[in-house]
Amino acid sequence: NRLLLVNGPNLNLLGTREPEVYGSETLDDVFARSSAAAKAAGFDLRAFQSNHEGALIDVIHEAKADCDGIIINPGAFTHTSVALRDALTGVALPFAEVHISNVHAREPFRHHSYLSDVASCVIVGAGVQGYEFAVQRLATVLR
Ligand code: DQA
Repeated sequence: NRLLLVNGPNLNLLGTREPEVYGSETLDDVFARSSAAAKAAGFDLRAFQSNHEGALIDVIHEAKADCDGIIINPGAFTHTSVALRDALTGVALPFAEVHISNVHAREPFRHHSYLSDVASCVIVGAGVQGYEFAVQRLATVLR
C-alpha cells in the first residue's frame, strides 16, 4: 500500500515563492502533512520533486511497479504537457491533481489542465491542505 507524491517545476521554492499566492509552508511541510495523512489511512508515501518534465515522466513510469496511486501537482506543466497526461494514462494508476492556488481565479492560461479530465479527483485552491485531502480521497478510492 503505497502512494507516490509528485511535485513539478518551481515547487521546490515553496515557502519563499510568491507567498501571497502559495503560502509560507515549504515542500518539506507538504511532505510531512501528506505522509501523516497517508499513514493515518494505512499507506506509505514516497515523494519526488523535479523541475524537469522527463524526470517526472520517468518517476510516474516507475510507480507502476510498486505504487497504488499518485498525488501530483504538475505546476506549470499542468497547462502545457500532453506528455505528462500520456504518462499518467499510460500507467493507468488513479491519480489526484492538486493545485495550491485557485487556478480558476488567476490568469486565463491557468484555467485549462491537460490532466483534469483523466484525474480521479482535482483539488484546487485549498492551499497545502489540498495535498492531505488528495491523499485521503485516493485512499478511499483504493480501499
Ligand atoms: C500551481 C498552479 C500552476 O498554474 C503554477 O504554474 C504552479 C503551481 C498551484 O499549485 O497552484 O506552479 O500548480
